[in-house]
Amino acid sequence: MLLLGFVISDKYKKQYRIVASNNDLGDLKRFYILSGNARIGNVNYHFAGSEVLYLDDLHIRQDAILFPAYWWDVIVAKIYLPSLQWQTHNFQGRGIGTAMIEFLAEYARSMGAKRIEGHIKSNDLKINPDLPNWYLRRGFKMEGNKISRSL
Ligand SMILES: CC(C)(COP(=O)(O)OP(=O)(O)OC[C@H]1O[C@@H](n2cnc3c(N)ncnc32)[C@H](O)[C@@H]1OP(=O)(O)O)[C@@H](O)C(=O)NCCC(=O)NCCS
Repeated sequence: MLLLGFVISDKYKKQYRIVASNNDLGDLKRFYILSGNARIGNVNYHFAGSEVLYLDDLHIRQDAILFPAYWWDVIVAKIYLPSLQWQTHNFQGRGIGTAMIEFLAEYARSMGAKRIEGHIKSNDLKINPDLPNWYLRRGFKMEGNKISRSL
């Protein structure tokens, strides 16, 4: 089930819809980031007590598939180009992750939280050694692999 609707902008002023999903995830909640109808990223989070929004995962996709706008284009393309490979698009580095952190901060504040917390996972760090600095430049403090930002 999709709930609520919000909009964020990247650094080129392109807009993305944010939709909340609470579908069968228990306490874990998720926001999807949409470009048109394509899911180009997501945030998984949960509330830890009344003061903390805990960031379980933030992911902006490097390989988002942009489908044609209309379903009949999909059918026509598949009939005439059966070997068609959908084009993928990299959405990283456009300021979407930054906009998502600011959106989360506002959302967490509106829910009465006082901090955003999370941990940088070793796998993510291996792929992107700049990740701690990415969070530090966005107002987070670091203690070991724990990140936190006061709201
Ligand atoms: C880390 C991540 C969320 C950042 O989101 P983003 O939308 O690419 O980030 P932004 O465009 O807002 O910020 C770009 C900054 O990140 C750096 N960067 C990191 N990875 C990058 C990439 N693959 N492409 C471009 N820029 C990248 C840029 O140098 C830039 O630096 P700045 O702080 O000086 O501005 C995203 O790269 C991602 O999903 N990575 C894979 C999953 C991951 O590691 N998630 C974090 C879990 S804790």
